[in-house]
Amino acid sequence: MSLDIVILAAGQGTRMRSALPKVLHPVAGKSMLGHVIDTARQLQPHSIQVVIGHGAEAVRERLAASDLNFVLQAEQLGTGHAVAQALPALSAERVLILYGDVPLIAAETLQRLLALVSDQQLGLLTVQLADPTGYGRIVRGADGQVEAIVEHKDANAAQRAISEGNTGILAVPGKRLADWLGRLSNSNAQGEYYLTDVIAMAVADGLVVATEQASDEMEVLGANDRIQLSQLERHYQYRAGRRLMAQGVTLIDPARFDLRGEVTVGRDVLIDINVILEGQVVIEDGVHIGPNCVIKDSVLRQGAIVKANSHLDGADVGEGADCGPFARLRPGSVLGAKAHVGNFVELKNAKLGAGAKAGHLSYLGDAEIGARTNIGAGTITCNYDGANKFKTVLGEDVFIGSNSSLVAPVSLGDGATTGAGSTVTIDVPANTLAVGRAKQRNIEGWKRPVKLNK
Ligand code: UD1
Ligand code: CA
Repeated sequence: MSLDIVILAAGQGTRMRSALPKVLHPVAGKSMLGHVIDTARQLQPHSIQVVIGHGAEAVRERLAASDLNFVLQAEQLGTGHAVAQALPALSAERVLILYGDVPLIAAETLQRLLALVSDQQLGLLTVQLADPTGYGRIVRGADGQVEAIVEHKDANAAQRAISEGNTGILAVPGKRLADWLGRLSNSNAQGEYYLTDVIAMAVADGLVVATEQASDEMEVLGANDRIQLSQLERHYQYRAGRRLMAQGVTLIDPARFDLRGEVTVGRDVLIDINVILEGQVVIEDGVHIGPNCVIKDSVLRQGAIVKANSHLDGADVGEGADCGPFARLRPGSVLGAKAHVGNFVELKNAKLGAGAKAGHLSYLGDAEIGARTNIGAGTITCNYDGANKFKTVLGEDVFIGSNSSLVAPVSLGDGATTGAGSTVTIDVPANTLAVGRAKQRNIEGWKRPVKLNK
């Protein structure tokens, strides 16, 4: 059966106290609405309608994609009114309603809900709540069948005692929706067109309202303020951490681990505290990541070691290679097998061959460095003349003396050496020593300056 999905995202989110529309606030580095859209996509629907209102332009700009249709709800007159705005764009046999501020809903839960929908049946996602204050209550008849949803503000004492709450997530037969929404009224405590009133209409029309329970409360929790947002964030991270541990990763403290993207992991990976993984990260077997590292869009190959306080972005760390503490690998950094990058070394668009070393305090940009080459402390590639960038090419088994400046474009052949403190401006042939510095003079009997009497 075909499926249209409507995501409600027009509300203001006053309690966020923010210039940013509520649904753009991030959980795990991705906007809440972005999470809902990605989950919706997993259901392979015929269409995804996003109902926007507050901050409509910002939302559209941030999330525009060819498979999304944005529908403007100029005035927020209620959830039923919001869905009605999308009606002209709906044509599928089933319509699923989601919320842009309920980001942790799982595709599997929605699959179970959708399986309930037929011409004669709706699927309603409910949740048992310790404190249902504020939620619509699920009113069931003597036979246990759902009869209606009553909003908290409209509920009497007996109804308020019901602990089964409406998550708001609902799946209905598409061809009935226009009729039900057309009959909504706003004569209720909030003066709104409630989507929830559709339930009693469906029952009156002889349909059955079947229910499905969310796996846990957090899955259906919306973020109305930054406290709830942080709760969703921690829950997301808790789940991400458990998933990784189940796959063979040791997290020294899952409460101090953050995933802001996607990671694939091998076995016997160890991740110390305060590590943030962003974007797309691949971690192979036996990798160790020290504390306080940020690793974005990178590949860490088998047995690689990233030591404390390192920052990697777009890096490829080879088998058994290591970097840090305090290494910075910027986009295009490639460490060959067993290569070594030590403290306060910055690489950008630079390749270190197998077993090559840059142990201390260097900047290597736009460089190709051969196997086993050693870069002395304080070495800098001068890759930029203020207008253009140039390349430095070092062969294999090169030895760069400490504090050398390699002025690109420049290349050094296999086995070449530079004297410490050299400024290298011309190519160096293989197996040759280059010394590019003023010769030392010793001045005998030289007197130090003395302080002048005033
Ligand atoms: C709604 C449900 C309630 C349920 C609760 C779960 C209704 C009438 N009530 O109540 O049964 O227990 O969610 O959290 O549906 N929105 C729009 N346009 C509007 C109004 C709302 O896009 O005109 C969006 C909001 O941005 C929000 C969502 O719909 O994402 C829910 O709206 P909200 O006003 O928060 O509904 P609740 O009163 O919480
Ligand atoms: Ca709400």
